[in-house]
Amino acid sequence: MYELKNDRYLRALLRQPVDVTPVWMMRQAGRYLPEYKATRAEAGDFMSLCRNAELACEVTLQPLRRFPLDAAILFSDILTVPDAMGLELYFEQGEGPCFARPVTCKADVDKLPIPDPEVELGYVMNAVRTIRRNLQGDVPLIGFSGSPWTLATYMVEGGSSKVFTKIKQMMYAEPRTLHLLLDKLAASVTLYLNGQIRAGAQSVMIFDTWGGVLTGSGYLEFSLSYMQKIIDGLQRESEGRRVPVTLFTKGGGQWLEAMAQTGCDALGLDWSTDINDARRRVGDKVALQGNMDPSVLYAPPARIEQEVASILAGFGHGEGHVCNLGHGIHQDVPPEHAGVFVEAAHRLSRPYHG
Ligand code: CP3
Repeated sequence: MYELKNDRYLRALLRQPVDVTPVWMMRQAGRYLPEYKATRAEAGDFMSLCRNAELACEVTLQPLRRFPLDAAILFSDILTVPDAMGLELYFEQGEGPCFARPVTCKADVDKLPIPDPEVELGYVMNAVRTIRRNLQGDVPLIGFSGSPWTLATYMVEGGSSKVFTKIKQMMYAEPRTLHLLLDKLAASVTLYLNGQIRAGAQSVMIFDTWGGVLTGSGYLEFSLSYMQKIIDGLQRESEGRRVPVTLFTKGGGQWLEAMAQTGCDALGLDWSTDINDARRRVGDKVALQGNMDPSVLYAPPARIEQEVASILAGFGHGEGHVCNLGHGIHQDVPPEHAGVFVEAAHRLSRPYHG
């Protein structure tokens, strides 16, 4: 294995000293990059791209060739897990993800297998190994998964949703069925993330994209408690280093104290939470990642720099900040604007360290 040349990202997640604030972008590999669109066209469709280790590696590395990012993130999707459980994921043109066999009742849940990461999800493990080899220790590789709750929303709704009718119906009318499903997902995700860590992921992030649609008590019962189970089951050291875990609940700003108590190393913040306030609340327990509104990248460079400056000042002096967007980068932003964001995070953060 190669020596890690840039470990700022791992150090910041553990609140250790760094020279400048590390930065990466959620969804940094994707359709805002013309080279991504070209590779995706070569692969055919999105899942074929995920299943081809060489091409998945290529698109993982594309943003790193353009920008001085401090981490790479595995190119895959959170919905590979339900796909491996037999729901059959497909992407309808312009409609987002769909499942051919959604989960509708307890009998469906009972039938769901817990996938073996090296078998049904072996293509993801191959991608992780291929990416690690090609990174040659330049920056660490982030592995990831969806949270059980977020995966369940897609599995029960049969795809993306704005109102979450079916999953909420299940939650309020058949809570035991939903708990069974979440339990299977927590077991599957734990195996999956441990598989990624064994294959070479140096940090892992749990995306709880839809935790924010729950009530406070619903969040604790249906989302956070299952993320807690996963964290309790994760391998936390690999290659002689701690493997930091980041928890990101979009819209979860009210629940940071509870999230920080799970034993994770860092919390991802969306842009609706003030980072200064978040640091005062949980900064003695966890690092913070975020949290620029991705729409700022539509603005001219000077405005982007102003926003980066404000987030860096909001976090303030000292350690424990990973600069990022508050959610995924939009597909229609100019790539140069992403470059302005990354460069500004490094240049403007120097005075806050050392
Ligand atoms: O960040 C990265 O660069 C790594 C790759 C990554 C993808 N999806 C690639 C992708 C990651 C980390 C994800 C996570 C993911 N996928 C989440 C959680 C994070 C978040 O954004 O909240 C969710 C909810 C999904 C589910 C998903 N996958 C949706 C809703 C879609 C459709 C999105 C759209 O805009 O059409 C996908 C497909 C997907 N996953 C794309 C990419 C680059 C676009 C596919 C394409 O090329 O057409």
